[in-house]
Amino acid sequence: MNLTNVLYERKEAYALITVNRPDKLNALNRLTLEELKAGFSEAAHDPAVRAVVLTGAGEKAFVAGADISEIANLDAQTGRQFALFGQELFRTIETLAKPVIAAVNGFALGGGCELAMACHVRIASENAQFGQPEVSLGVIPGYGGTQRLARLVGRGRALELVLTGDRIDARRAFEMGLVNGVVPQGGLLAKASDMAEKMASKAPAAIAHCLSAVSAGLDMPLEEGCYLEATLFGLCCATQDMKEGTQAFLQKRKPAFTGR
Ligand code: COA
Repeated sequence: MNLTNVLYERKEAYALITVNRPDKLNALNRLTLEELKAGFSEAAHDPAVRAVVLTGAGEKAFVAGADISEIANLDAQTGRQFALFGQELFRTIETLAKPVIAAVNGFALGGGCELAMACHVRIASENAQFGQPEVSLGVIPGYGGTQRLARLVGRGRALELVLTGDRIDARRAFEMGLVNGVVPQGGLLAKASDMAEKMASKAPAAIAHCLSAVSAGLDMPLEEGCYLEATLFGLCCATQDMKEGTQAFLQKRKPAFTGR
């Protein structure tokens, strides 16, 4: 793919997508968002890609936010469009039928924290810092931060972060459930790629249905969520991979999933 601010690399079973504006701490300007959209579309449509790792270029930042030089020129109408454009991309990431792992290698502020939260799993390096500093700029989080942060860490902790604009370190982010794990910076990509490869080795339909059941189910009453789960369980039972997985267990061998 011919992109400027995003690197797209096809690894064996997963795609590594890197936000690549290190001189601006990988801030998300319009072009970067458009290229991220192209990268995730490529990952969605390539059947050989079964997971995605998303990270930032350099050692300092995952993404230091939406590009403040673009925010500075917004008015009421363009501001709403700006938020909706980013939200649409982040929703695309969140609803991808393949696992997306954020490898957070430094600052994840504002839109960067929101981008990480739109991913399914977050692994942070020890130097990572998280925060929603928008109120210091006179705005609120616009890429889903007020919604996903509260869902991930609870209303009180989300409001503390959003209302103070304070930054928290990786340990604190782990304690409050914002990230799944913390590793030394040198081991971050290895940890994320190990996880991506493990997820990529499972039955693709089962993985996709797990993503739907958990994500869509969280927005439903328990009874409806369990109903959805039963329906998706039934769909798994119609796949060849289900036959293969169960037979492989019974025959004491490794399954060879084909995605059918
Ligand atoms: N938008 C646009 N540019 C940004 C940016 C952002 N969100 N975050 C960093 N940059 C740019 C800086 O303007 C600077 O560019 P320059 O070298 O052309 O002047 C470059 O990235 C390096 O940033 P700098 O501030 O010099 O690094 P630092 O180590 O001193 O501070 C931060 C790092 C992350 C604390 C600081 O850059 C910052 O507060 N960024 C904004 C965070 C934010 O408010 N994000 C939410 C936006 S809604």
